[in-house]
Amino acid sequence: MRLLSSKASCNTHGQDSSYFLGWEEYEKNPYDEAMNPEGIIQMGLAENQLSFDILESWLAKNQDVAGFKRDGKSIFRELALFQDYHGIPSFKKAMVDFMAEIRGNKVTFDPNHIVLTAGSTSANETLMFCLAEQGDAFLLPTPYYPGFDRDLKWRTGVEIVPIQCTSSNNFQITESALLQAHEDAKKRNLRVKGVLVTNPSNPLGTTMSRNELNLLIDFIKVNKDMHLISDEIYSGTVFSSPGFISIMEILKERNYLKDSSDAAQVWNRVHVIYSLSKDLGLPGFRVGAIYSDNDEVVAAATKMSSFGLVSSQTQYLLSAMLGDKKFTKNYLLENQKSLKRRHRMFIYGLQKTGISCLKSNAGLFCWVDMRHLLSSNTFEAEMELWKKIVYQVKLNISPGSSCHCTEPGWFRVCFANMSEDTLNLAMKRLTTFVATITGANESKKNSGTSRTMSLPNWVSGYLLVIIGTRRTIISRDDIAWSWLVCEV
Ligand SMILES: Cc1ncc(COP(=O)(O)O)c(C=O)c1O
Repeated sequence: MRLLSSKASCNTHGQDSSYFLGWEEYEKNPYDEAMNPEGIIQMGLAENQLSFDILESWLAKNQDVAGFKRDGKSIFRELALFQDYHGIPSFKKAMVDFMAEIRGNKVTFDPNHIVLTAGSTSANETLMFCLAEQGDAFLLPTPYYPGFDRDLKWRTGVEIVPIQCTSSNNFQITESALLQAHEDAKKRNLRVKGVLVTNPSNPLGTTMSRNELNLLIDFIKVNKDMHLISDEIYSGTVFSSPGFISIMEILKERNYLKDSSDAAQVWNRVHVIYSLSKDLGLPGFRVGAIYSDNDEVVAAATKMSSFGLVSSQTQYLLSAMLGDKKFTKNYLLENQKSLKRRHRMFIYGLQKTGISCLKSNAGLFCWVDMRHLLSSNTFEAEMELWKKIVYQVKLNISPGSSCHCTEPGWFRVCFANMSEDTLNLAMKRLTTFVATITGANESKKNSGTSRTMSLPNWVSGYLLVIIGTRRTIISRDDIAWSWLVCEV
């Protein structure tokens, strides 16, 4: 007899993915400047550690709140007692106002339509539970956040069918890819319950275009039994143009009035996921939310939220913090500035190694193109390179295959979960490694029998990029271009 239930032991959790294996390797040998300078640097964790000083200075100025006092009196007992699963009203109001502020107040959110959850992980699973039967499917554009295999599939039995996006158009969703995914699901006899996207994208670090968002709305307008879930957990991390467009703005732009029959069809089937894990850098606080204009979905998700409530002291603290409009305004601005600066530093570091990445404007990571470093255009070669980077270079990054990317050689690399010094060290390690590989390739070619002039792997890689897919390379400030021209 088996000890564990089939649900607990089934492998749809995805824990064998290189995404989680990389974390395990990091845990065994974590880099520490003083204690373990040769250790692995964690670049596989999308954490935002760049704005803690702003949060800490707010806490220092608001010690009453952090000490669970109101008007100088302790409210410990009030907070310690059980609160119902509807959440604290002042916190829900502060959350929806914060969400609106991130969207430039172009849209507003009703606090009665928000369901609090223990992070977006719980929010995404709750929505799956509420909207789909076991064996139903959601369509997700690739590459996608590796945690979705666990969050969407594992306990609910829901299937993910990929919408195959490729580097040929910077991984944007096309109508043909969307329809193809729908067809693929039908061939597998799966009932499709909707589409789930992350905007801005994890792992791409890009915001979705108006065209893509309209395409998705058109799709669920035609397919009236489908939902559209927009995971907007990175909405406050957008640091460059083009700006962020929430799916809610598109609904508003299309002028659907909530009480018209057209609107009832669409508004009722669009749901937004949010969390404070990324924008505020508080994944340990476990604060997430589902926003929906559909009363039935809100009621069902609220019942479900018993399984992952946000503690009352967290709600109390954050209702005061997010209720401080001067703080939120300053925080969002400064956080974006820090991310922009860090992103630039990372890109320049990569350029020095001869590596490019998808042009991005958001998130805590870049989608890095190492196709030219592969020994062959296969996922085996991607794993081979990944192992070298984890074990020899001692950097934990996430292979594209763990994000279900269809092209070998892409990696998600995080840049906001470490100090500048650590990032510099990581780039130094990478530079040495790339020089070794390209040097080895070079001498192999020079000592070979071929008499044709050969360029190093990475240079020909760049030539390809220049001639072929110009837009996939980082061309900002044109520094990359002048540098590349010189090198070539
Ligand atoms: C797209 C996306 N959704 C959800 C999550 C889960 O976040 P949380 O910490 O709020 O559960 C993550 C975390 O990396 C994410 O990237």
